[in-house]
Amino acid sequence: MKYGKLDRSLLEDVRAKVLRGMLPQWAFTDPEVFKAELEQIFAKTWNFLGHESEITRPGDYVTRWIAHDPVLLLRDAEGKVQAYLNSCTHRGTKLCTADFGNKKAFTCPYHGWTFNLSGELTGIVAGNKVYGEEMDRSQWSLRKIPRVESYQGMIFGSLNEHVEPLETFLGDMKWYFDLMLGRSDHGMEVRGIPQRWIIHTNWKISADNFGGDPYHTAMTHRSTVELGISPKDPMYASYGYQIVLDNGHGINIITRRKDMNVPPFQGLPSTMWSMFERNLDPMQLDVFRNTMITVGNCFPNLSFVSPMHGTGGPGEPLTSFVNFRVWRPLTPTSIEVTSWLMVDQDAPEAFKEASYLSYVGSFGPAGTLEQDDAEIWTRVAEASQGWMTQDKDVHYNNVLNYLMGLDRVEPDPSWPGPGVAYPTCYLDAISRAFYQRWIECLLDDAT
Ligand code: FES
Ligand code: FE
Repeated sequence: MKYGKLDRSLLEDVRAKVLRGMLPQWAFTDPEVFKAELEQIFAKTWNFLGHESEITRPGDYVTRWIAHDPVLLLRDAEGKVQAYLNSCTHRGTKLCTADFGNKKAFTCPYHGWTFNLSGELTGIVAGNKVYGEEMDRSQWSLRKIPRVESYQGMIFGSLNEHVEPLETFLGDMKWYFDLMLGRSDHGMEVRGIPQRWIIHTNWKISADNFGGDPYHTAMTHRSTVELGISPKDPMYASYGYQIVLDNGHGINIITRRKDMNVPPFQGLPSTMWSMFERNLDPMQLDVFRNTMITVGNCFPNLSFVSPMHGTGGPGEPLTSFVNFRVWRPLTPTSIEVTSWLMVDQDAPEAFKEASYLSYVGSFGPAGTLEQDDAEIWTRVAEASQGWMTQDKDVHYNNVLNYLMGLDRVEPDPSWPGPGVAYPTCYLDAISRAFYQRWIECLLDDAT
């Protein structure tokens, strides 16, 4: 079968292959897979929308997306976070086209209907004349995104009214979010405006890369090691723990080695260390002290990286930052990236600025590491669209390799944090768990 509809037996065959560390290449590019993902994953689960620090005052808003659903995220007059479908209830026009701003009300550019911060329809051009008293305006409020919840300032929305609570969905990922986002007294703030750009790849390729592929750094990003703007050892991303979490989430804690001369707490100023002791439990503190880099993915498409990167050159100190990004699926072979740089609100201003520059130079849209990755991911998608790679024959001649460490590397029970931790980051354990979760979602309700 080629270019055909998905059927259950085909998906069950994919599941069997994923459990053996293999993935059919057509999974990246098949249009039916993409449609099933929109329905079975993005419409059903939690999707990251933004950080509370982006909308601190009443009337502050940002516009975001859940896959193809436009979202208007704002703080209402009472100071509560609200999320609406960013589409007018009159003829469906996209209501707000700015990325961010502050408003008391939103007026539609088509016929001028106006909605307040509570989403209520408060103004209709020539209202009484054309609709009289009979039309009940309260029926025509903005449509709410069914569920909105947050953790550590991270606001998520779901199109599924019956989705599990956000904290249940995040599960053990919360422990690791705390390390990145909850270590300081006042949490994190988004610095600068989140950047957006398009990459011609499939969303799973980038999510899997951040989630489970520190292995690629030795080749893809080798030039940054040679330039002295990444940690000195080309194998730096192999040291540490790969931790498989529930629900398809995963994180790599890449640890500093003594001979690498990397300061504790990712080089964050020593004036902040007592704050970390206050806010983290002793095990979290111990893990964070020895962390050099964290990188991972929160299923389905919220990835994060907190690396150490230089802006100078050989011998110059490396500066850490925290970057979250969403890989929004546009088509099977294109994504829109939205990328947030976050810094501890309590960090000294000089560190915040250094952290921002470190981010821009590495994982900003024109950054070294970002350019390396985007080029490679584009090539994967480019090479996965032809006749041979779409072959859905259930033999083993069209699968890709996710075998690293399968049945060879055992978990380390001494790891102090939650999850199943393996004592190396060169491993496909998170990738296998990611694709297991993905195929289970597609199989749910499949006919
Ligand atoms: Fe918005 Fe008509 S579409 S006012
Ligand atoms: Fe990379």
